Amino acid sequence: MNHSISLTVNGARRDFVLDDPRVTLLDLLRERLHLTGTKKGCDRGQCGACTILVDGKRINSCLALAISHDGADILTIEGIARGEQLHPVQAAFIAHDGFQCGFCTPGQIMSAIGMMSEAQAGNDPERIRECMSGNLCRCGAYAGIVDAVLDAQAGMDESNQRRSA
Ligand code: FES
Ligand code: FES
Repeated sequence: MNHSISLTVNGARRDFVLDDPRVTLLDLLRERLHLTGTKKGCDRGQCGACTILVDGKRINSCLALAISHDGADILTIEGIARGEQLHPVQAAFIAHDGFQCGFCTPGQIMSAIGMMSEAQAGNDPERIRECMSGNLCRCGAYAGIVDAVLDAQAGMDESNQRRSA
């Protein structure tokens, strides 16, 4: 039996007909929309390479059934820059050499953005490590990644303060 769902993906509405209710958000994004920035690492919820934001919250898209998210607002790594202007987290990853293998980095960036909007970590490096612990980096770029998150967070806090002044 076919199932119809609609998602908003990076600001655009997308309609799908699913012939299998078990299709995951990850496979839908990669195979139907060719948004291959979101990576399939372990495919079992252990590495974070597939992290996206669903209604503003970060999730492992390899574990999420697309059908359970009918109507959701999805943000992927392809949707965070504004034209040529990088998202502050992307810029900070470049500045701090947080970009390494390119396989886990999109998930790290999406996780960092989700974590900031959840306002969980503050500026405590240990807390940032804990909040990012669902995202594995096998090459040891963690130091650069934590510095990048701290830097981006400081920049975003500053611009929020300017806006509310
Ligand atoms: S691919 Fe989803 S957590 Fe590893
Ligand atoms: S940045 Fe991907 S394994 Fe380290």
